[in-house]
Amino acid sequence: MSAPAKTFRLAILISGRGSNMAALIDAAQPGKIPDAEVAVVISDQSSASGLQRAKDCGIETLVVERRGRPREEHDREIVAVLRERQIDLICLAGYMRILSREFIEAFRGRILNIHPSLLPSFPGLEAQKQALAQHVKVAGCTVHFVDETLDGGPIIAQREVPVRDDDTVETLSARILEQEHELYPEAVATVLARAQATQAAKS
Ligand code: GRF
Repeated sequence: MSAPAKTFRLAILISGRGSNMAALIDAAQPGKIPDAEVAVVISDQSSASGLQRAKDCGIETLVVERRGRPREEHDREIVAVLRERQIDLICLAGYMRILSREFIEAFRGRILNIHPSLLPSFPGLEAQKQALAQHVKVAGCTVHFVDETLDGGPIIAQREVPVRDDDTVETLSARILEQEHELYPEAVATVLARAQATQAAKS
């Protein structure tokens, strides 16, 4: 008899409005991301508006503020929270902190990020502004694994959007964001399907 499908426990890390977080939460309801539940949403900012949205969905929320501590100490606290809750996959969704090596090693291959450009073009801050400054004709978004490089880990999925001549940072960002909300759940489903297949092969 084959082993029952595992339910993967997701953590989402945010710093702000959390629209990608909301897309992941919606998709983890039976449907677009099978066999997954969002177990916790963590923010480094108590003012992050996404926190309320997660609470409204009945999901545990935690604020782990940096409070002037070194990055390693802050990350250690988050890693402890993730381990206590037996988290399988971490989704960074507008989380505005660079992770320490220790954090990445604790969950290597199990941390995803979404970035509003077609990586490896325009890593770092203000990707949409960088794209407009270069007059690119195609922009987009990327979901990738997080490693020690800035927005440089292996790419899981990408989606293109056209750039219009009259685009502003706001109009381009909105067009990209719409695609982010579809791409992130799809990429998470892909990663979990691979993990599910690996597990089935072992059992
Ligand atoms: C998104 O554009 C994401 O690609 C980037 O930060 C933004 C977060 O938006 N990493 P939201 O908080 O998910 O609405």
